[in-house]
Amino acid sequence: GAIVEHTFIVGQMNMTHLCKEMLVTVVNGQLPGPVIEVTEGDTVVVHVVNKSPYNITIHWHGVKQQLNCWADGVPMITQCPIGPNNNFTYTFNVTGQEGTLWWHAHVAYLRGTLHGAIIIRPRHGVSSYPFPEPHREIPIVLGEWWQMDLQKASMDIKYSTADDDPSAATINGKLGDLYNCSGVKEDGFVLDVEAGKTYLLRIINAALFYEYYIRIAGHKFTVVAADANYVSPLTTDLLAVAPGQTLDALVVANAAPGRYYMVASPNQPPKPDFQHPTFTTRGIVQYTNENHSNGGSSGPGAEGPLSRNLSVVAPEMPDEHDTMTSYYFHGKLTALHPSRSLPVPARVDEHLLIALGLGSVCKRGQSCNRGESEETFTLATMNNISFELPAATAAGPLLEAHYYNTGSLDMLRELPDRPPRMYNFTDPSLIPSGPREASLEATSKATIVRRFRHGTVVEVVFQSTAMWQSDSNPMHLHGHDMFVLAQGLGNYNAATDVAKYNLVDPPVRNTVLVPRLGWVAVRFVANNPGAWFVHCHFSFHLSMGMAAVFVVEDGPTVNTSLPPPPADFLTCYRKNNPVAD
Ligand code: C2O
Repeated sequence: GAIVEHTFIVGQMNMTHLCKEMLVTVVNGQLPGPVIEVTEGDTVVVHVVNKSPYNITIHWHGVKQQLNCWADGVPMITQCPIGPNNNFTYTFNVTGQEGTLWWHAHVAYLRGTLHGAIIIRPRHGVSSYPFPEPHREIPIVLGEWWQMDLQKASMDIKYSTADDDPSAATINGKLGDLYNCSGVKEDGFVLDVEAGKTYLLRIINAALFYEYYIRIAGHKFTVVAADANYVSPLTTDLLAVAPGQTLDALVVANAAPGRYYMVASPNQPPKPDFQHPTFTTRGIVQYTNENHSNGGSSGPGAEGPLSRNLSVVAPEMPDEHDTMTSYYFHGKLTALHPSRSLPVPARVDEHLLIALGLGSVCKRGQSCNRGESEETFTLATMNNISFELPAATAAGPLLEAHYYNTGSLDMLRELPDRPPRMYNFTDPSLIPSGPREASLEATSKATIVRRFRHGTVVEVVFQSTAMWQSDSNPMHLHGHDMFVLAQGLGNYNAATDVAKYNLVDPPVRNTVLVPRLGWVAVRFVANNPGAWFVHCHFSFHLSMGMAAVFVVEDGPTVNTSLPPPPADFLTCYRKNNPVAD
């Protein structure tokens, strides 16, 4: 394969939306950031130059990083963060993966503006798309516009359960005409199409907080891939994409020439558990006159004569509290046969049941006395332990301690096979009324680790619980894709639910949406040595501790063992990397 090289300058710039200028942290002055376009088998080299005041790492979301955990970009798990005015070069291969992935900062909420697409095309002569070649391919990055300091917001939520909301949803950084500044409408995303042609939308949910529904008035989608794994073509007029997930969908411009809204609207749990303001964004799909279009850019200048004065057709969107439509959408995806990731391993070596919950910890220590509930923090948990990153003052990241077997991290604790207490996880009557409710279970903080011998077939059932807002949980595993065997509502019950498993053609994903008050069963082969973060991709759940590290041991040979760190690997708090506080 070829070598594809980028330089990412991380810096701050002013941007104005909704009449307010904000200082935002971005790559190369772009929001969304640069697109990395490669062919399967290529090597990607990204030089990150940190001109921001923050510690930064960049994670390549969904890239498997086989035998290359050092480049996974998780602060204090796989590397020391890149301090202000410092540089780091990431080198990785994209082998055995095709489709859409993305990159983002893996530091607090900064990924809200530090993100971009990764597009991996089939290698010519070796393979090509398992669907008709599209006329054009368009990245569609869903995001949010925040009128707040994202670095500060993430600290607030970690330490005081402040709950903040974005001000607008965005498509490719644009807010769209539902938003205005003193009556002047915000710019929206515009996609120019030619009648009869086929377009491949490469959709990424880079938002911090919401799953989105997407619809284009008058048009259907054919979903062909999810998380850079092909799926059997699914024709639908509505998509659902959770934070961290990607979908590749074909759209044929086969409607009457005109202008059509492309709408992205979030969904949230039913009332009255969750009453955040919601927001929708819309762009426009517009037919251009054939002679005029050169198939290149969108936006002004590429407009055909029919567009300006035509009214725009709007689609009907699901209710903002409709989470069942998402549940059914996710349940309809199956892997394309034959797939390079099938068959599903039939034998399971280790079973885990991971309850995704909330707990409380006393501000003064690990347990509060009676009547001191107002003195607690609310934390998100896995099996009632809340994840705490190793301190940035540690000698190095967890991966380094594991590799050199120095065991210098003191907060480590093993993730248990199942929750310490089995109860009815999904009975809505157990939903505490607020985040400081005394009825939350007492929890504790630790750097949660689970070790697997190389080659272990792991089955994980993620169980959402009736915590707080009864959220769904988009669970993301680094370094491995997961077979998504089944989902269900209520409490997982092995005796009956195993019969629901799809062991023939389950979809293969790196981020799986665990439905609210329900569960998902996944299986993966722990065959990539290293330390891999597994966490909820809702940023506030992650900041509050819904995370763990899966450590995969070396295999028996050099080809199954993690090589040493690269020569220029950063150290923490030393002269070559003055990390910010
Ligand atoms: Cu997309 Cu650990 O993240």
